[in-house]
Amino acid sequence: MRRITTMAVALTAASALALAGCGRAEENPGNGGGGQPGATGGGTGAAGGGFEGNALIGVALPQKTSENWVLAESLFNEDLKAAGFQADVQFANNGVSEQQNQIQSMVTKGAKVIVVGAIDGGQISSQVQAAKDAGATVIAYDRLIKNTEAVDYYVAYDNYKVGQLQGQALLDGMKAKKPNGPYNIELFAGSPDDANAKVFFDGAMNILKPKLDDGTLKVASGQTDFTQAVTQGWKAENAQKRMDTLLAGSYSSAELDGVLSPNDTLARAIITSVKQAGKDVPVVTGQDSEVESVKSIVAGEQYSTINKDTRNLVKATVGMIKALQAGQQPEVNDTQQYNNGVKVVPANLLEPMIVTKENVKEAYAGDPTLSKLTNG
Ligand code: BGC
Repeated sequence: MRRITTMAVALTAASALALAGCGRAEENPGNGGGGQPGATGGGTGAAGGGFEGNALIGVALPQKTSENWVLAESLFNEDLKAAGFQADVQFANNGVSEQQNQIQSMVTKGAKVIVVGAIDGGQISSQVQAAKDAGATVIAYDRLIKNTEAVDYYVAYDNYKVGQLQGQALLDGMKAKKPNGPYNIELFAGSPDDANAKVFFDGAMNILKPKLDDGTLKVASGQTDFTQAVTQGWKAENAQKRMDTLLAGSYSSAELDGVLSPNDTLARAIITSVKQAGKDVPVVTGQDSEVESVKSIVAGEQYSTINKDTRNLVKATVGMIKALQAGQQPEVNDTQQYNNGVKVVPANLLEPMIVTKENVKEAYAGDPTLSKLTNG
């Protein structure tokens, strides 16, 4: 998946429609114009005549690699039931083949919409194709489903923007501590099977790369490629081990000023590693507003996180499902950015928000759990 260049934005609607009409599916910036926002019904034919108000909706969630997924489970159950639907919400803690079986079973049970937070966005194309063949609508939730036509909509916080906010926070945090560089940093990315991991990393590098090029930033380990920075399975122990190795190899005398961490779980593992090595805690970014990380931010340890309120993401998804049920086009606000390799998937993108100690109180004022952590 790639972001589409400005050239694609300039593509005329006529040529975009002509390409779409040919059913062309090459990974070319030119294939993604897709018409105007909202004009999404022509392609995969998601919105048809609607379906029964008490239809079965399947929600296939990945592993519990961060708190947002656990929250999503209960929210989907509550919100789908409140809207009158039957809900089948599943985690796939045992991995990809379990998730494939779960999606297949949702299709067999006759689910009208299947919402998928993919473990590996590239390995469920036959299952989502089966869903389409059975007449269901497929919504990619939080993570894009890749290399298939059989995905109708994408609903997520803007992942590229998340990465950009993380990159900027890393720079701001280090500058606040030490006004002038150069700064030593290390880079961590998420699990390479998760379609989001590269997008977060690319967004962050969009901000950090110019500073690496001009010498303001230095990665002492030399590990600046996504493939070197990845954390298999989003596992804390893998990030901690890698940080231990980096510290031993490159920071016996050098100072470590900052670490780009793609989420809160990994941020805390990185901080643990640094503390165990007897070093000062550097500026560490994060994502997800996890309870322990919000506490750490309030205490002045982890530098930043991202607020991507799961309640709003689930609400937006259930809103799409209600529209489909009524035979209407679900709301989308982006038909340019999220190319899954064969098509640009019409997306409803929500705006992520950076949170540091500065704005932690305002950021979670409306959150019943997190607001309790920021008083005082
Ligand atoms: C989500 C992040 C989360 C990560 C690990 C990503 O796909 O977008 O919010 O931290 O998965 O669970």
